[in-house]
Amino acid sequence: MGEIKNINHVAIVVSDLDAAVKFWSDGLGIPLSHIEDVPSQSAKVAFLPVGSSEIELVFPTDENCGTAKFLKERGAGMHHLCIEVDCLEDVMADLKAKGIRLTSDTPAILEGRKVVFIHPKSALGVLVELYQPIDV
Ligand code: CO
Repeated sequence: MGEIKNINHVAIVVSDLDAAVKFWSDGLGIPLSHIEDVPSQSAKVAFLPVGSSEIELVFPTDENCGTAKFLKERGAGMHHLCIEVDCLEDVMADLKAKGIRLTSDTPAILEGRKVVFIHPKSALGVLVELYQPIDV
């Protein structure tokens, strides 16, 4: 059975990246690490490390992407919680056996990581990303 490691990040969709960075960094005092264009997520993302986790402020750059639709329908706010696991396949098999729905049967392989999401309907309204770092 796969082991749960930690909360890797919390993603927040923002409609104004500068204002969001100003609040989380200048206001709350969490130092901004960097801002990066992430074409795979159609977003500009600000990373603010908190201990071994980080807050990701996600600003959609393509109006057709998922986070842009989220922003349009629900407004700015928390988008998903990401939990790091040691073996994604084991965790996925365990969840499936328990009848917990995933958004995909196979993990998405991205740079340095593989991920899959638990469907919010199975997680009482929360979109949960499961993440395993991989060697590239
Ligand atoms: Co994420």
